[in-house]
Amino acid sequence: MAGKKVIITGVPGVGKTTVVNEALKKLKEDGVEYQSINFGTFMFEVAKSEGIAQDRDQMRALDRTVQKRLQQLAAQAIAQIPGNVLIDTHASVKTPKGYLAGLPEWVLREIMPDIVVLVETDNDQILMRRLSDETRMRDKEGSRSIAEHQQFNRSIAAAYAMVTGCTIKIITNADFLLEQASQNLAETLR
Ligand code: AP5
Repeated sequence: MAGKKVIITGVPGVGKTTVVNEALKKLKEDGVEYQSINFGTFMFEVAKSEGIAQDRDQMRALDRTVQKRLQQLAAQAIAQIPGNVLIDTHASVKTPKGYLAGLPEWVLREIMPDIVVLVETDNDQILMRRLSDETRMRDKEGSRSIAEHQQFNRSIAAAYAMVTGCTIKIITNADFLLEQASQNLAETLR
């Protein structure tokens, strides 16, 4: 049987990577295996080899056509991976020139996801998580701007469902409730 392709998204700092890692531990205990892939890492490997980005946070500011080319290369490589695959990426990317679709038609047609997960939480919690994460060069924005991005992600996810027939699952990753979020994701992936 063909494996499942699940895409997990959420605004930067919402904690999607943290939720994924916890959910995969739970699934492993039950013998359910997923290969976890970070879409941004695939893009960054190409960007770095071409000398156009020195860290992953610089990619958002690259020219739109360059970002689109990096997306396409990443999607083609990820589409070849067999079995159950969980792809950590973005429903949309906030660039200096506006929102860029994270999963445009040419990416969706390569991957054809079964489920797109949106990880969300309160805007103020995201703001605080970004401020306390010193390992990344997070864009500085207020909670109203984060709210707009989360709202835009819901809207664009509806378009992804229309193109592929995938389902859209919304998971809340609230402060102190990581266990609940990871349990919810594990059940979605089973
Ligand atoms: P990517 O690497 O995915 O960057 P990111 O969104 O910043 O993702 P992170 O993994 O750093 O954040 P996260 O939300 O997973 O949070 P984390 O678990 O670390 O992408 C990098 C770049 O690639 C993008 O900027 C873009 O340029 C490009 N890219 C990727 N996909 C693309 C696409 N499709 N198209 C175009 N470009 C694309 O957690 C954050 C903090 O919160 C941690 O400190 C954690 O401890 C804390 N935390 C988590 N959960 C909780 C909780 N429940 N309670 C309290 N604290 C919590």
